[in-house]
Amino acid sequence: MMRGLLAFASLVVVVFGKVTFEGHQVLRILPKDEAQLSLIKNLEEMIEFQVDIWMGVTDVSNPVDVRVPFQSLQFVKIYLEAQNIDYTIMIEDLQVVLDEEQEEMEAAARLAQPRNTDSFDFSRYHTISEIYSFQDMLVAENPNLVSKIVIGSSYEGRPLNVLKFSTGGTNRPAIWIDTGIHSREWVTQASGTWFAKKIVTDYGRDPALTAILNKMDIFLEIVTNPDGFAYTHSSNRMWRKTRKPNPGSSCAGVDPNRNWDSGFGGPGASSNPCSETYRGPRAHSESEVKSIVDFVKSHGNFKAFISIHSYSQMLLYPFGYTKTPAKDQAELHNLAQRAITDLASLYGTRYRYGSIINTIYQASGGTIDWTYEQGIKYSYTFELRDTGRYGFILPANQIIPTAQETWLALMAIMNHTYNNPY
Ligand SMILES: *[C@@H]1O[C@H](CO)[C@@H](O)[C@H](O)[C@H]1NC(C)=O
Ligand SMILES: [Zn+2]
Repeated sequence: MMRGLLAFASLVVVVFGKVTFEGHQVLRILPKDEAQLSLIKNLEEMIEFQVDIWMGVTDVSNPVDVRVPFQSLQFVKIYLEAQNIDYTIMIEDLQVVLDEEQEEMEAAARLAQPRNTDSFDFSRYHTISEIYSFQDMLVAENPNLVSKIVIGSSYEGRPLNVLKFSTGGTNRPAIWIDTGIHSREWVTQASGTWFAKKIVTDYGRDPALTAILNKMDIFLEIVTNPDGFAYTHSSNRMWRKTRKPNPGSSCAGVDPNRNWDSGFGGPGASSNPCSETYRGPRAHSESEVKSIVDFVKSHGNFKAFISIHSYSQMLLYPFGYTKTPAKDQAELHNLAQRAITDLASLYGTRYRYGSIINTIYQASGGTIDWTYEQGIKYSYTFELRDTGRYGFILPANQIIPTAQETWLALMAIMNHTYNNPY
C-alpha cells in the first residue's frame, strides 16, 4: 500500500535549478540485533522511499544514517517504530544546514580571488574553477616541483587534472592520492587542496617528506569526479555519482567506487541505475575511472595508492569484495594502526581500521581492491571526519584540522612505503 501511495508523490523539489532539501531529515538508526539490521537493510532497498544512505548497515555496534525526504518521513518513522527500532534525528532540516553552508561560501566568494596560493583560503569550500586555478597557481609558483598532468576528460568534458610532485628522475616509484571521487564528500577535495600546498611547503623543510620526494613521485588528483563536483555546486549538493546518463533510465550516474574491475558485479553494489551504489554497465565504463586505470597501468611503478572519502573516520585496506584476507593483511593492519595513532595525536580524532569487508560492509568493484590486485601493496581508503554530527555537511571551520590530522596518517603510510621498497 505504501508503494502505491508513494508512486504518485514527486519527491524532488527544484527551486531556481537547485534541488532543495526542505524538511528532509537525516535519521540516525540504532540497530539492536541481527533482525533489526535486516529490517533496516530492507528500508535501503525500498526505492520508493528514496532514502539516501549516508552511512550504511554494518553491525549492531554501529548506527546507520539515512537522509529521508520530507514526503516519506512519516512512512519511514512508522516503519521503524512499528518494528521497535530506535532512531534519533541527526539533522532536523537539511536545507537549513545547507543554507548556512551556502551563505558562508558566498561571503567568502565576495572577497577578492586569491592571486597566489599563499592567499588561498583553505578554511573555506571552493568551486571547481577555484580549485583548478589554485592548481595552476601552485604549478606556476613551483615549476621545479609541481606539474599538472591531464589524464583524460570527464563525461561532460572537464579535464581530469593530476598534480605531479617530482624532484626529477624518470618513472620513479610513486604514490597516488585521490580525493573527491564521491562528489558530495566536500571535505575531501578541500583537504586535497591543503595537501598540495603542504607538500610544496614541507619539501626541503621536513626531513621525512624531503627524503620521500628525493626518491619517489607523488601524484594527487583533487577533483576526481569533476562533473559530480560541479553538479553539487550548481544543482544538487547531495550528488555522489558520476553524471553520465544511463540509457533506458531517468536516473543518471554510476558509483565510481563500484565501477572497478575487481569483484565487479558481485554483492555489495547495485545493478539499478537509480541506486547510489550503481556499479555501471560494465567495469571501467566511467571515463573518470578508466583514465586512472590507464594511467596507473602505463606508469607501472605505483607503490602506494590512497583513495580518500568521507565520512565515518575509518582507515581501510583490501578487500571489500571478498572475505579472503589480503596476503599482506598483517603488514597493512599494523601500518593502519600506526597511521591512525599518528592521526589521533593532533586533536584526539578516533578512527576505526581494518579491511573494508570486515570494518564496513561488502563492497564490490571498489578502487583499492583493483589497485591491490594490480600489485600496489600499500592500498588504502580513508573515510575522513566526522562520525555523524554533520555527515557530508562538515562545517568549513573543520577543513584545516581535518587535513592536518589526515596528513599525519598519510605521512605514516608514505614513509613506510619509502622505508620498505618492493
Ligand atoms: C620515517 O621513517 C623513519 C625510519 O623508520 C623514522 O625514523 C621517522 O620517524 C619516520 N618519520 C615519520 C614522519 O613517520
Ligand atoms: Zn565516498
